[in-house]
Amino acid sequence: MEKKQIEEMIELAMGQLAYSYAPYSNFKVGAALLTESGKLYTGCNIENAAYTPTNCAERTAFFKAVSEGERSFQAICVVGGKDGILTEYAAPCGVCRQVMMEFCDPDRFRIILATGIDQYEVFALKELLPLGFGPDNIREV
Ligand code: THU
Repeated sequence: MEKKQIEEMIELAMGQLAYSYAPYSNFKVGAALLTESGKLYTGCNIENAAYTPTNCAERTAFFKAVSEGERSFQAICVVGGKDGILTEYAAPCGVCRQVMMEFCDPDRFRIILATGIDQYEVFALKELLPLGFGPDNIREV
């Protein structure tokens, strides 16, 4: 991936921290999702007093995009930290990795974890979800 594209995604994801609704954990997360065609969708985590309805930033971005007709994705950038302070990488939870598995090629889809515009690492979905179970596994033969 191009550095300029990565930087744009980090900036967008960091901008989402302002919208994070996390009154229970105070752990703010922002995401920026890049479609195959180059369009960007953002997301933040949205918590709930009943706890389990909480939606992660990554899934907010995916569901926004899918609900607008997108089905093909290149990469997602995730940033997060207590009170929105980025000290270490906020890696996607297992549920979010599974949602990525539904729509993305595990060899090609990239997950960018960042703590700053110049501090990031890029992973393939396959690295973060080895032997993932996806649509191909239940395809009729
Ligand atoms: N969270 C995310 O939004 N994404 C992640 O990758 C990890 C966790 C949120 C869920 C919850 O609002 C808060 O972070 C603490 O778990």
